[in-house]
Amino acid sequence: MMLKNKIAVIYGAGGAIGHAVARAFAREGATLFLTGRQRAFVEAVANDVVSAGGSAEAAEVDALDEQAVDRHLQSVIDKAAGVDIAFNAVGIPGTKILGVPLVELNVEQFSLPITTYATSYFLIARTAARRMVANKSGVIMTATTQHSRMGIPLSGGYGPAMAAEEALTRVLSAELAPQGIRVVGLRPQAIPETDTLKEAFEVRARVSGMTWEQFQESLASKTHARRLMTLAEMANVAVFMASDQASGMTGTIVNLTMGSLDD
Ligand SMILES: NC(=O)c1ccc[n+]([C@@H]2O[C@H](COP(=O)([O-])OP(=O)(O)OC[C@H]3O[C@@H](n4cnc5c(N)ncnc54)[C@H](OP(=O)(O)O)[C@@H]3O)[C@@H](O)[C@H]2O)c1
Repeated sequence: MMLKNKIAVIYGAGGAIGHAVARAFAREGATLFLTGRQRAFVEAVANDVVSAGGSAEAAEVDALDEQAVDRHLQSVIDKAAGVDIAFNAVGIPGTKILGVPLVELNVEQFSLPITTYATSYFLIARTAARRMVANKSGVIMTATTQHSRMGIPLSGGYGPAMAAEEALTRVLSAELAPQGIRVVGLRPQAIPETDTLKEAFEVRARVSGMTWEQFQESLASKTHARRLMTLAEMANVAVFMASDQASGMTGTIVNLTMGSLDD
């Protein structure tokens, strides 16, 4: 078990990435504290983890609420006597931020992903780091997409938001790694099992004159393996990165695009 005796907090745990990471972390022995904006979704994930034999507690925490994030993490420390892993899986619906050409985009729609993604990740990371320094160990993690590094049309402020998360990962690591805290990100290619994929790319499929199936095939054809990654594959890498086996990795984003984006 790669995460035996580890205490992990997942933010945005009710979503696709959060759920998959929760299952994988629990399978590897971590004790989970799952959080999200809507309790019912987080509870469903916690129930799934527990019914598979894992340990998970659910809580309603808005990752943009500084006090709520802090209060929750303190409650975790009070119960579990520490925190080893903080995983940011927060995501906002693509329908609010994608599909409009930049020349037609209003400032609010452009800024929303940048402020939401950067601020929630910052709050999660800062709150975790303040607790982790006491033990001089811990891992802070996030998930980004290849929009951080590619000019993808009709994605508004989403690419800048992903680039901000990746930059923040490096800055956090530069400050925290000397204190024993690693900071790493995962950059998966689009994952077909998630609703997010359709939200992110359906408009582009329509504009390109492709059916949704044709568009997915075209995305897959850009990978070396000619297929898109599964949630389980992404989560297995998350387990490794969270584990002590990855002690040599910090200040970096793992490229999980299966060759569609060169390093
Ligand atoms: N899915 C993919 O193919 C893919 C690939 C690469 C990277 N990613 C990245 O991974 C992250 C998660 O993606 P996903 O596919 O899992 O999205 P998702 O299924 O939409 O899940 C996102 C979760 O974040 C929660 N959330 C939103 N705002 C929050 C807040 N202020 N506080 C707490 N929780 C909040 C949502 O809760 P509500 O339902 O209450 O809004 C939802 O449960 C995103 O950053 C995305 O860019 C996804």
